[in-house]
Amino acid sequence: MHTRILQINEDSLNESKDIILNGGAVAFPTETVYGLGANAFDGSAVENIFKIKGRPCDNPLIVHVHNDYDISNLVSYVPEYAKLLAKAYLPGPLTMVYKSKGKVSPAVSCGLDTLAIRVPSHKGAQEFLKHIGLPVAAPSANVSKHVSPVTAEHVFSDLNGKIEIILDGGKCVGGIESTVVDCTSDIPVILRSGLITREMIACVAGDCGEYSLKEGESARSPGMKYKHYSPLCETMLFDFCDRKKAEKKYEECIAAGVNAYILCDGATANSIKAKKILNLGESEAEIASNLYFKLREGEKKAELIIAISPEKQDGVMAGVMNRLTKACKN
Ligand code: TXA
Ligand code: MG
Repeated sequence: MHTRILQINEDSLNESKDIILNGGAVAFPTETVYGLGANAFDGSAVENIFKIKGRPCDNPLIVHVHNDYDISNLVSYVPEYAKLLAKAYLPGPLTMVYKSKGKVSPAVSCGLDTLAIRVPSHKGAQEFLKHIGLPVAAPSANVSKHVSPVTAEHVFSDLNGKIEIILDGGKCVGGIESTVVDCTSDIPVILRSGLITREMIACVAGDCGEYSLKEGESARSPGMKYKHYSPLCETMLFDFCDRKKAEKKYEECIAAGVNAYILCDGATANSIKAKKILNLGESEAEIASNLYFKLREGEKKAELIIAISPEKQDGVMAGVMNRLTKACKN
């Protein structure tokens, strides 16, 4: 199959609609990362997405809908706090999990009785979803366990030959996947951290829990248990307090002829004596936005990425730390 990267216009949207209505998959941009979308009502189209990615079949997908879509078609109960969250943060990088009405294919939620719904704010994503006119099930458009794609070229390098079209919406500004919040309990519970932070959710909903997987327990969000987001080269992660050890490791590598790069934020980069640095930038938004971009740049030119954690680890940095830890887990 020949894979084409297309600008978003009437022609490419018409072609995308044909593909989706015929059971195929199309990659499209969102404000977080690129998604690989299929018709959520079509079981074999959804199953095909799992095959294309090599995704484990117990890791459910998020359904993406246009801003005007009435989600009461798909879910049975929307608590008051979820309505407030939707009003405050949608469209945007927040995915909400509800009790499902069972209208979409059971393959979307891998047999769970819940459904994750997301309304992306990216202009191209909204145009795509409006044009399709159906809920679109979409995981990130990477090969399973690889770093999520934040440019059309990243999608191409993972899925070339496996899909027909990649809609190009430029570099994703958010840079890490949406916050996933479970809205089936009395209070919202974060299943995956992201750009909409725990503090932002608690501020609107009055309270916010955070779910962590305990040893031996079955995961409430099955995606949590998998190794994720890993670059193709070797990686190591040093805590901010151990940044001098990271610098020493880098020096040893360079002396031994190992092509190592340090990945860290701008402030840390200024305090470190290393020539080869993958600089994530200064502000929290920049660091999140550049994380996957720099991991993908790093895997192309480095044999080893020596990552240093940011000093601050709450708010948006909680999401960055979650991804960085998973990227560097062996
Ligand atoms: O930003 C994003 O969310 C991107 C873009 C493309 O929208 N999508 C994304 O999809 O990251 P994916 O498939 O890579 O991650 C979906 C996450 C997984 O951790 C999965 O376990 C969780 O959402 N999830 C999906 N449905 C769920 C459900 N019914 N209950 C609990 N967790 C669910
Ligand atoms: Mg993913």
